[in-house]
Amino acid sequence: MKEKYRKQIVSMLTQAYWMEIETVTNYLANSVDLDGVRAEEIKKALAMDITEELTHAQTLAKRVKELGGRVPGSMSFKPAQKSLQPPGRYDECGCRHQRRD
Ligand SMILES: [Fe+2]
Repeated sequence: MKEKYRKQIVSMLTQAYWMEIETVTNYLANSVDLDGVRAEEIKKALAMDITEELTHAQTLAKRVKELGGRVPGSMSFKPAQKSLQPPGRYDECGCRHQRRD
């Protein structure tokens, strides 16, 4: 495999790895923190998917290593999944506010 393509593939695999890690983080947060009428059903579904998403991350990490790349540590993480962020809280007036954590 040409070096240029190997590096490109490692870069794409690393990006996919981070997406899986970020999904695990957001599923974990939402599986515990959601409130609302259908929250319990959704929380259970998300909790069951966490292990599967972590397995995807492990598979991608192993492939990065096989192709001569380095599996990055947390200091390389750049969040990108705004749509999977846990929702804000509802206040007394029924308005939803974004989290600030
Ligand atoms: Fe996945």
